Amino acid sequence: MPSAHAQLFNASGQPQAVRVSERVHWIGALDPNLRTFDIILRTANGTSYNAYLIRGSEGVAIIDTVKEGFAQDFFSRLESVADYDEIKFIILNHLEPDHTGALPELLKRAPKARLFISQKAQSMLKGLLKKEELAYTPVTTGDSVSLGDRSLHFLHTPFLHWPDTQCTYSPEETLLFSGDVFGCHFCDSRLFNDQVGDFRFSFEYYYAHIMRPFKEYVLRALELIQPLPLTLIAPSHGPILRDRPLHYIQRYRQLSTPALHSELSPRQKTLLIFYISSYGNTRRMAEAIYQGAMQIDEVRVSLYDLEGGEVAPFVDLIEEADGLILGTPTINGDAVKPIWDLLSSLTVVNLKNKLGGVFGSYGWTGEGVRLVEDRLRGLKLRVPVPGVRVKLIPTDDEILECQAFGLELAQELMGLREAKSLNLADLQ
Ligand code: FEO
Repeated sequence: MPSAHAQLFNASGQPQAVRVSERVHWIGALDPNLRTFDIILRTANGTSYNAYLIRGSEGVAIIDTVKEGFAQDFFSRLESVADYDEIKFIILNHLEPDHTGALPELLKRAPKARLFISQKAQSMLKGLLKKEELAYTPVTTGDSVSLGDRSLHFLHTPFLHWPDTQCTYSPEETLLFSGDVFGCHFCDSRLFNDQVGDFRFSFEYYYAHIMRPFKEYVLRALELIQPLPLTLIAPSHGPILRDRPLHYIQRYRQLSTPALHSELSPRQKTLLIFYISSYGNTRRMAEAIYQGAMQIDEVRVSLYDLEGGEVAPFVDLIEEADGLILGTPTINGDAVKPIWDLLSSLTVVNLKNKLGGVFGSYGWTGEGVRLVEDRLRGLKLRVPVPGVRVKLIPTDDEILECQAFGLELAQELMGLREAKSLNLADLQ
């Protein structure tokens, strides 16, 4: 019996296509030596660049290509099951270079093929190929192409994880070419999820780092995907999901559905206050802001001290919160490291339009508050109330000011805050 690895290569050691379903072949490449993907993502055993070929009675379509350095494997596998003249369509589910590296050469080898991309991919394609004259067809949900007895239907699934992403479905094969969705960076020559090693950690890690900031888009995509009769998901990285494909769809739904909102009444909002304090002054301010915010019954307020230094557990809380208030001393003209660590860990979640606020005690100049406000705005939070800064120990009046700050932010969260006219002096 041949080994599970042998199917990727022919008897001469040349890469060959692997059959995925009746009319679909895998023509991708393995990259077992990769340890870091896109600078920030780690891999434990590399990744794969999955590309596919589907054959109909009237021709062949290629779905995605591979990273540039792996083009030879891709072309060898393609040539093992089709001639370039047979290629009628080239479909790109996503234009990131790990899937389009072999595209320029493929376009040369299959000049008669028509290129299909999502509506949002058009400007990216021009940037990628650096050509003004390009023949392509932008497609969206409802559009399809025919290969005779096989067809391909396009699903508009943007921001998973780039604006251009789409999925392509073959109803005759009941197979979804999903692009990065349902993928992971896991390299195993056995290719199929019922044969490869345990890749659960990689699937979860990939979701957490790639898809998590786009949960709303995941849920919208699942509305299109879930009703489809489906026996196989063919992602562009990692194992091909032919065993229990619906399990992975359900897992994406679980991971993308906010958990906290089921515990709250429809009117309730959540406000988190994080602080760190050198001498107790920023802490006193935090407690006063907490008391102020608590005056609005429908706001569920939480107060946390960051002194422990571990910020990772708070990312989940912040992702589902409606508002975020940060308290930092100013040391050497800057906010302190635990605050920056917390903020840098938030790149994996969507913070757009959450409410933000900043406060802190300082000794000399107090730049920390303004710097953190700027960062919150950069992360797309709303920061409607100027931060509160107190020189060293807060006076009784300054404690009252902190309480008012907390109340004002809680009111803002509930839409109860009166519009204030701007004081020009505050803008200088
Ligand atoms: Fe696998 Fe977003 O490229």
